[in-house]
Amino acid sequence: MERGGQVRIGSDDEDDVVVFAVNGKRYEVSVHPSTTLLDFLRSSTPFKGVKLSCGEGGCGACVVLLSNYDPLLKKVKSYTVSSCLTLVHSVNYCSITTTEGLGNSRDGFHPIHERFSGFHASQCGFCTPGMCISLFSALVNAEEKQRPDPPTGFSKLTVSEAEKAISGNLCRCTGYRPIADACKSFAADVDLEDLGMNSFWRKGESNEDKLSKLPSYNPKDDVCTYPEFLKRELESTMYLSPHKKSWYSPRTLEELRTFTDPKLSTTRTKLVAGNTGIGYYKDLDQYERYINLRNVSELSSISRNETGMVIGATVTISKAISALKEKVGGVVCSDWELIFTKIAEHMEKIASEPVRNLASVGGNVVMAQRHCFPSDIVTVLLAVSSTVDLIINTKRENLTLEDYLSKPPLDNRGVLLSIQIPFSTSFTSNFSTKTSKLVFETYRAAPRPLGNALPYLNAAFLAIISPSKMGFVINKIKLAFGAFGAKHAMRAREAEEYLAGKPISLNVLYEAINIVRATVISKDGTSDATYKSSLVVSYLFKFLYPLSDGVVSVSNGLSTHNSANNFKDGDNLSNDAKKPSLLSSGKQLVETSREYYPVGQPIVKSGASIQASGEAVYVDDIPSPSNCLHGAFIYSTKPLARVKNVRFKTKSLPDGVTAVITYNDIPNGGENIGSKTIFGTEPLFADEITRCAGQCLAFVAADTQKLADRGASLSLIDYDTDDLEPPILTLEEAVEKSSFFEVPSFLYPAPIGDFSKGMAEADHRINSEIKLGSQYYFYMETQTALAIPDEDNCMVVYSSIQCPEYVHTVIARCLGIPEHNVRVITRRVGGGFGGKAIRAMPVATACALAAYKLRRPVRMYLNRKTDMIMVGGRHPMKITYDVGFKSDGKITALHLCILINAGMSADISPIMPNNMLGVLKKYNWGALSFDIKVCKTNHSNKSAMRAPGEVQPSFIAEAVMEHVASMLFMEVDSVRHRNLHTFDSLNLFYKHSAGELVEYTLPSIWDKLQVTSNFSQRTEMIQQFNQKNLWKKRGISRVPIVHEVTVRPTPGKVSILSDGSVAVEVGGIELGQGLWTKVKQMTAYALGTIQCDGTANLVDKVRIVQADTLSLIQGGFTAGSTTSESSCEAVRICCNILIERLSPLKEKLQAQMASLTWDTLVLQAHRQAVNMSASSYFVPDFGSMQYLNYGAAVSEVEINTLTGETTILRSDIIYDCGQSLNPAVDLGQIEGAFVQGIGFFMSEEYLTNSDGLMVADSTWTYKIPTIDTIPKQLNVEVLNSEHHRNRVLSSKASGEPPLLLAVSVHCATRAAIKEARKQLHSWKNSSDQSNVSFQLDVPATMPVVKRLCGMDYVESYLQNLLSCQGRKQA
Ligand SMILES: Cc1cc2nc3c(=O)[nH]c(=O)nc-3n(C[C@H](O)[C@H](O)[C@H](O)COP(=O)(O)OP(=O)(O)OC[C@H]3O[C@@H](n4cnc5c(N)ncnc54)[C@H](O)[C@@H]3O)c2cc1C
Ligand code: FES
Ligand code: FES
Repeated sequence: MERGGQVRIGSDDEDDVVVFAVNGKRYEVSVHPSTTLLDFLRSSTPFKGVKLSCGEGGCGACVVLLSNYDPLLKKVKSYTVSSCLTLVHSVNYCSITTTEGLGNSRDGFHPIHERFSGFHASQCGFCTPGMCISLFSALVNAEEKQRPDPPTGFSKLTVSEAEKAISGNLCRCTGYRPIADACKSFAADVDLEDLGMNSFWRKGESNEDKLSKLPSYNPKDDVCTYPEFLKRELESTMYLSPHKKSWYSPRTLEELRTFTDPKLSTTRTKLVAGNTGIGYYKDLDQYERYINLRNVSELSSISRNETGMVIGATVTISKAISALKEKVGGVVCSDWELIFTKIAEHMEKIASEPVRNLASVGGNVVMAQRHCFPSDIVTVLLAVSSTVDLIINTKRENLTLEDYLSKPPLDNRGVLLSIQIPFSTSFTSNFSTKTSKLVFETYRAAPRPLGNALPYLNAAFLAIISPSKMGFVINKIKLAFGAFGAKHAMRAREAEEYLAGKPISLNVLYEAINIVRATVISKDGTSDATYKSSLVVSYLFKFLYPLSDGVVSVSNGLSTHNSANNFKDGDNLSNDAKKPSLLSSGKQLVETSREYYPVGQPIVKSGASIQASGEAVYVDDIPSPSNCLHGAFIYSTKPLARVKNVRFKTKSLPDGVTAVITYNDIPNGGENIGSKTIFGTEPLFADEITRCAGQCLAFVAADTQKLADRGASLSLIDYDTDDLEPPILTLEEAVEKSSFFEVPSFLYPAPIGDFSKGMAEADHRINSEIKLGSQYYFYMETQTALAIPDEDNCMVVYSSIQCPEYVHTVIARCLGIPEHNVRVITRRVGGGFGGKAIRAMPVATACALAAYKLRRPVRMYLNRKTDMIMVGGRHPMKITYDVGFKSDGKITALHLCILINAGMSADISPIMPNNMLGVLKKYNWGALSFDIKVCKTNHSNKSAMRAPGEVQPSFIAEAVMEHVASMLFMEVDSVRHRNLHTFDSLNLFYKHSAGELVEYTLPSIWDKLQVTSNFSQRTEMIQQFNQKNLWKKRGISRVPIVHEVTVRPTPGKVSILSDGSVAVEVGGIELGQGLWTKVKQMTAYALGTIQCDGTANLVDKVRIVQADTLSLIQGGFTAGSTTSESSCEAVRICCNILIERLSPLKEKLQAQMASLTWDTLVLQAHRQAVNMSASSYFVPDFGSMQYLNYGAAVSEVEINTLTGETTILRSDIIYDCGQSLNPAVDLGQIEGAFVQGIGFFMSEEYLTNSDGLMVADSTWTYKIPTIDTIPKQLNVEVLNSEHHRNRVLSSKASGEPPLLLAVSVHCATRAAIKEARKQLHSWKNSSDQSNVSFQLDVPATMPVVKRLCGMDYVESYLQNLLSCQGRKQA
């Protein structure tokens, strides 16, 4: 690996030079102070392993290791940072390590890379470099810990730390379990037996054998994180000037004061600490002066003495956490040490580690004060009487935090110096520590337990209590609430005053709760306001109830409150969530087969190691050709309006913007076309009228991506709605106006049976309505393309797309050039999930159009916000059903009216009815009829998303089952079982795809899962749990799936080169789903059938090359789960052709030689002019192109009735993969799809405003699953159901169907809620039957679950207790 050497970048202006090292290489750079490290690394170094995915600190793709050297202590400190938030100027004399710095394919991979690959932990690979660095940092830091030396091959890391290391990193493909395994494999306390499927060892091998096969790790040999030359240079640098041209680093308060002079303009100056604030506020402005606060020693120190703790404003949250956790000892501090630990534990849930390592405590407080940021820190500090030191108008002031918050927002010249947490205040000073105790707790309700999500509400309570004859008396109390939708965190004064001096009786508690509910109120328009209000109550109850009526003895202050968990009802209210056990575990059972070796082997995913090491090249990693421009879209914010003008806030074009391209720039002979499907085309740009919010209006071309984005953000659009009809924004409006897309008759399924007859047979009939929202793809790599004009009016376009063939045609039509003038190249896609099928086309086409017009290369990498606003996502829908059933649960007839919101263009939406029925028919409904309308609305286009139109019916079917069961008071599991298909009914419902009887494996899967998941025993245990617990309820659910897929025509081409290596081209695109790996295996198997020496390892000689639309035409779509198998089949046909050509020569040579090797055969074939390249076009038979996939899942969840939080305790899946082509790849698809489904059902809210403009447009507002929200235990069995005559080597699809199984989590949640509602109704003594049947919305977020459990759950409990008490007393 190249080390040392140096690179100088930027102007020669000494003043602004920053020196640092990247992967051991010296960089001396001069860039604008607003330049982030990510921008710099990606644009000016070869290290493209650092990925951009969100640009706001929310995903971890850009994480790098930052190392500082302390020349006095001669110590290096290393920690992760989000490079998208880190400013280059803040890394002066730091060293940066990216995943490339750990190792590579030429010099040797790092064991982290190898283990990620071997544990199958990298699919699309876009998250992998960030994951690797997060783990590397944990390993480096574990070595610093005072722990015994680990066993050989391991680090000092613990398994729990290993998992937590990646808790701030998002992955959309894998479902996290294999990533956690790769991380845990380094931990000293790991039991190798617990690690999941991998390519290193086989089940049953001894631990010694396993360890010997793991890529070896020796912490002592690890990568140098801070190069010697930089140490020397830093040591010899006597004086780092605080004055630069625009980046100032004052070291003393005096120096700082000169920069905060009130005479200086505020608008051109920015104070900077960690700069993470830009993650939230997206401040794209450039300032004249940046004042770096980090070097002012007074601001960066932490001190602690008898009076309290002082935290300098620029101290990072991570450092504050360490300091707060430090045990100093001493009588005065004993209670406070516990308080500090609790504050630290709360802070550990703020953001993610790479953000906390940058973010300052002071920056957080300033953001809260100035911008009303929903801070955790301020709430917690408010409860402990903190004060702040400030400079306002050059004057130093000390204020209570509360006073500071109530002041007008501090302007840019005000400086927060420090925060003090006093040990003794007027609050505590009058109370004897002998008779009274301090009690402190903090609370936080957020979509993710480990953080990386802003809270719905937070709270911190401090009380002094003392025992009395009447129980515990509250001497004094402080109640702080924050993030609930008020301007700032606030104290609940009325409740505090009410409680002071009172014994904590149930009456007092009930009254206090009423007071907080009435006084802690969100401002108008706050989302989930009622939920937040219920949290206020829940947390106060949680704090006080354990102390009520002398439930606990307070002999040891805080610690006793902590252990206060044995309540009268035996329930547990303690803060157990604070000590999460292992985040993920699982078992995998797969059967491999050697019948078609190496097909069927769990070989590692092709390219996984280079994905981990950052060498894999994605579209945005391709170096920019000279003269390259960058693009950004300007989109409409109105649903239906005339676009009068597109202009800018600036007088002329914004800085760096070269051109603005609209539909007027389409060349003569070209068309305004942005995408096409078999159902029609969609315009690239809105012409005079925009038809949805998010529609593309114009394309800004600028010198850099940042300037293009900034240019687009400065645009102003003049709209006019005169004479236009109102937009269609609801499905009801679409029906009213008959605004529908036509569904071709061949795609509209036929009803089954006689609905009227079915209804006549029914004993009962019910109906209901369900609404389902959208889902965003959240591929880690957003939409991107690079267009390069070529000679003779040609255009080469690199596109991250699932269907290059289609965009090829679209580009040719848009530019008005023949198709042979266009070439679209796609190597790999950083996650697609359907979103890079149709929705990638406008991106590539816009780049091609701009490149054509401007005669320069043009590239674009959509920022996350634009991507989320423009791409559309899954189809929302409204369903009404009418179902008839017998008293034993057998359904006799179902009728459905389904309205699908397709948005403004047809896209692929007309396939929805067919897809929906393919899944809906999983049960025997008796008779099934339906009316499905694909509605045309003024919303952004809804498009294919993994399991399009399939995940929704899996939900609809289960919702009907649940409804029927609850009406009959039956177990829903037996109703499901009662309605599973017999093979006869399966044939009736799936005429063309039911296959043979032996292939119908669902009944056996259903029964097997009952046993392997311990379903019956666990159901009983859950009943017992629910009887004993009031505040937590559990539910379990088992669901089946039947999923119809269609195999489509696919081309292939195999070329054998003279050295025996093989180059393969296929129509399918590698999206992370392992298509290339399966194709490689198939090529090796099929060519190996020639049977000569040296074919056993043929798989290593095969390379799949990037898709090129001129080299291999008719590539089609990579979608629908079947492209891997059809690409394999296409390749098998090619190989068979080649074998046929080679066979005569082989026989001839074998007759001459004792042994014939593959290499010799191939060389001779080349010499004898045998055609060594074959291509094919696999077209499946009509009779076998559709088939069914089967699987079932059991999920168990626990809900918290106080907060609505859902924890998935365990999921068990059995999925039939036929004879899997690669069980490791299929397992990865099953787990990844399942977790993506969990996102749809539980957490992902893709919301719009009233104009249809997406408002969930960032990682702040859109929550995909993280490692702490997946099932704590995920057990998967990949069933090998042997031979399937019509399938490709008996294999079946795995990409989409398992996503549907995630409905089991939703159903289990519903079961748990049912229990909570039963509980609530028992308290209310209610005869109300509304708890019997209810709809649980999708996604079942915390507010949704809490609403159904009862926003008044606590009040009802207390009322019940009080009335019981009253009755007893009477
Ligand atoms: C992904 C992510 C998730 C987050 N999640 C949470 C969360 O769950 N809970 C929570 O509470 N917070 C959360 N935060 C907020 C985070 O704590 C703040 O961004 C951070 O603390 C700000 O510190 P900084 O040093 O980066 O400030 P900067 O970004 O440098 O500054 C922020 C603002 O404060 C000003 N400023 C900074 N320091 C001073 C000072 N000493 N005097 C005067 N002005 C100053 C700056 O001029 C700027 O306007 C999250 C942030 C990110 C990026
Ligand atoms: S790109 Fe930096 S955290 Fe997402
Ligand atoms: S492998 Fe993690 S995002 Fe694709």
